[in-house]
Amino acid sequence: MEVPFEPNPDWTSFYASGAEIQAYFTRTVKKYNLDRDVKLSHEIVHAQFDKREGIWNLRVSHSGDVFDDWCNVLVSATGFLSHWKWPNIPGLHEFKGVKVHSAAWDEDFDYNGKKVAVIGNGSSAIQIMPEVAKSATHLVNLIRSPTWITPGLGSAVIGGDVNRVYSEEEKRRFREDPGELNRHRKEIQHGSNKAFGLFVKNSEAQKAAFKSTSRMMLDRLGGDKEVAAKLTPTWEVGCRRATPGPGYLEAFTQSNVSLSTSPISLVTPSGILTEDGTHHALDIIICATGFDVSHRPPFPLLGLNHLDLRDYWKDEPLGYLSVACPQFPNLFFYSGPNAPVGHGSLMAALSWITRYISRWLRKIASEDILFVVPTSEATEEFNVYGDEIMERFVWSGGCRSWYKNGRVDGRVTAVWQGSAISFKEVIGDLRPEDFRIVWRTGNRWRWMGDGRARIERMEGADLAWYLKK
Ligand SMILES: NC(=O)c1ccc[n+]([C@@H]2O[C@H](COP(=O)([O-])OP(=O)(O)OC[C@H]3O[C@@H](n4cnc5c(N)ncnc54)[C@H](OP(=O)(O)O)[C@@H]3O)[C@@H](O)[C@H]2O)c1
Repeated sequence: MEVPFEPNPDWTSFYASGAEIQAYFTRTVKKYNLDRDVKLSHEIVHAQFDKREGIWNLRVSHSGDVFDDWCNVLVSATGFLSHWKWPNIPGLHEFKGVKVHSAAWDEDFDYNGKKVAVIGNGSSAIQIMPEVAKSATHLVNLIRSPTWITPGLGSAVIGGDVNRVYSEEEKRRFREDPGELNRHRKEIQHGSNKAFGLFVKNSEAQKAAFKSTSRMMLDRLGGDKEVAAKLTPTWEVGCRRATPGPGYLEAFTQSNVSLSTSPISLVTPSGILTEDGTHHALDIIICATGFDVSHRPPFPLLGLNHLDLRDYWKDEPLGYLSVACPQFPNLFFYSGPNAPVGHGSLMAALSWITRYISRWLRKIASEDILFVVPTSEATEEFNVYGDEIMERFVWSGGCRSWYKNGRVDGRVTAVWQGSAISFKEVIGDLRPEDFRIVWRTGNRWRWMGDGRARIERMEGADLAWYLKK
């Protein structure tokens, strides 16, 4: 099957809602009967590689039961923003009001008439602020760094608008003429790939974005230069994730919303005390403070010589092209360390990774391979090269971000060292020269069996299929 597959002519708008995207996934899973092979609410609590059998032994927890299972190849698709954590702020857990993390949201909570604080100004806080501002008596955003609020990603395709609702006529044309839908999708992704210049430090696109975004932020703040000075970064646009955030800046023009840039000293039982001596009396504290992005699994994952990935990646997650790791055979990752999560289409990148893993699966199965594992040399060279080339890109700029595991000066650990298209090029082939391959039989040719090809055993097969012209 070609990937990506299952284009959808019925999206209601350019930026679809989470519920609509989920409904699309659910019906696509049904259509292709994928739920036959998916087990939900099954948690891996332990995984250990057996190098004699070439299998991963798994311990799985489900509905209070713990049982064993195994597989030849283990693929980690846990995502890089799935382990949320409370921030390390003194007194937070002694707060007597309600505290909530953005990743454990209570949809039904009523903010009406409440005094609320939002800590942080990443993408989560930026989306939460305008909603809570509608009903809170008072809302304060406590931030410790400025942030770029940009036009919508890919919004050039819809003329810079906040969103575009597709008309019934457009959707009918997309349904009846798949070519037209394909042209529209290509236009969006071509534009996004073409815009990569923005991520190159000191490029003309970066300079232009810096100027125009500063101006746009001031405009959206109603010309409030004092707030604009606090919110507008001096570092590169895109260094931290560029966030559109309709309504975030506009919220500060409301009388019930304020901004605090004074560092938090501590949380008291009734509010937050900041270093400037202000005590913010609060009913609710919303921690939009991000995730554990260390890439370390939350369970023991033991590779060769009982090495635990949590220890191996204790200081830095040094992976192979984001998809594999030395010492951990037959283990592949979606969006592992240094994956293309900083620009371009994430869905497209996931489909390229799927194709890459599928190629290994086919090779492992058809050549009777016990295990494959990237070499330490290939991985080390990849990371040395990657760190060097990363200096060219804005992600290594002067901001603190989760791309650098919450540091200002450290390595960039989350983002691929280049364009999304360069990632596609690199993982387009397997590069077995970067791997140690161990065959089950001890002879790399034994898989050829009795010296005849598989097609020769297929009843009625065309045995001259290679004559195309
Ligand atoms: N597609 C979407 O609609 C969507 C929506 C939300 C999130 N996301 C994804 O999720 C990613 C993470 O977003 P996020 O906003 O959840 O996390 P984030 O980008 O890591 O932002 C965390 C924020 O909390 C602040 N913070 C953390 N610890 C703190 C502490 N101890 N004291 C004070 N402030 C603290 C950080 O301050 P500093 O800036 O000083 O570090 C930062 O502003 C996004 O970049 C995006 O990829 C996507």
